[in-house]
Amino acid sequence: MTTNTAINLIKHHESGAISADFFQTVKLDKPSIKEGELLVKQNHMSLDPAMFGWMNADTESYIPPVELGSVMRSFGIGEVVESSHPDFKVGDRVTGMMGWQEYFLSNGEGLDKVDSPLPDADVLSVFALPGLTATHGLFNVGQPKAGETLVVTGAAGAVGSIVGQLAKAEGLRVIGIVGSEEKADWIVKELGFDGAINYKSDDLDTQLAALTPKGIDLFFENTGGPVQHLIYNRMNEHGRIVVCGLIADYENGEYRAAPSWINVIKKRLTVQGFVMTDHFHNSPALLEKFAPYVMEGKIKHRSHVLDGLESAISGLNLLTTGGNKGKLIVRL
Ligand SMILES: NC(=O)c1ccc[n+]([C@@H]2O[C@H](COP(=O)([O-])OP(=O)(O)OC[C@H]3O[C@@H](n4cnc5c(N)ncnc54)[C@H](OP(=O)(O)O)[C@@H]3O)[C@@H](O)[C@H]2O)c1
Repeated sequence: MTTNTAINLIKHHESGAISADFFQTVKLDKPSIKEGELLVKQNHMSLDPAMFGWMNADTESYIPPVELGSVMRSFGIGEVVESSHPDFKVGDRVTGMMGWQEYFLSNGEGLDKVDSPLPDADVLSVFALPGLTATHGLFNVGQPKAGETLVVTGAAGAVGSIVGQLAKAEGLRVIGIVGSEEKADWIVKELGFDGAINYKSDDLDTQLAALTPKGIDLFFENTGGPVQHLIYNRMNEHGRIVVCGLIADYENGEYRAAPSWINVIKKRLTVQGFVMTDHFHNSPALLEKFAPYVMEGKIKHRSHVLDGLESAISGLNLLTTGGNKGKLIVRL
């Protein structure tokens, strides 16, 4: 009998690094399909900062926590290996929330067919959550205008690198905040950002002032952390702050205070958060907007691929240490 290896969450995360004791690896029988069901063999799964939230016991968030004893939640891509579902046939490539497991039994709900010939890692790195988040956050929330200055944090990451490249393509001046010299070089030399700042270096205020001589119109916030205050202090009148993520605090278990609201009044700023779960129904329109940039070669990316289901456990820590170079993915 073929087995289905799965990883269950057995302890909620409050703070600190992710360790093996949060999870239990189980070997189950490969599921059997019934009428109207299909079985997917998952080939690649996405590791996302949101997982820290899903592992937390907080029931007040935009999505319920993963129930203890059940498969860890994740988005992935795979191939249909058995089907008695009218809309899916063996060999179809599909994406969906399949969890940390080899095989995913489904009634078809929430699964999307992948038409693109792109390799799995490219689908997850560009057209899945990163591209949708960047497109929605930048255009629908941020309302960018040519000639404006945008600062994006987490700029070498999956979302941030796409935000910066889209903004460059729209004629903005784009400055990225990153956590290493290697990432700073990559976003300037490879992706075409106008400047980069390593937030682990000195004199951040001076560096930011030099790179944003006309102030900042658009701040795409992926990380939080002390640099947030410096960026906020350079916002121009009628500037927009898009709050996408605060990964600097995901491991701490508590969130640092944001800057005073006084500049929101003085500069008439708009500060807006969003979560993509509210907008997935709009994915076709977002992809229609985003795809031409990719087709025209304006969006470069890199994927950081780990091997084996269980590499997901320690792999999650790469997101908070900055060890990932590009979209973090597990190959099964
Ligand atoms: N709102 C939504 O619907 C939505 C959807 C997707 C993602 N997000 C958010 O977007 C952000 C980026 O996600 P992603 O998937 O693209 O991940 P990512 O940027 O590819 O990886 C996370 C990166 O965060 C940076 N980081 C970690 N700790 C940090 C700290 N203390 N201070 C500053 N930077 C730190 C690291 O880069 P460095 O080496 O540069 O430090 C790390 O590589 C996350 O906050 C995530 O929660 C939100």
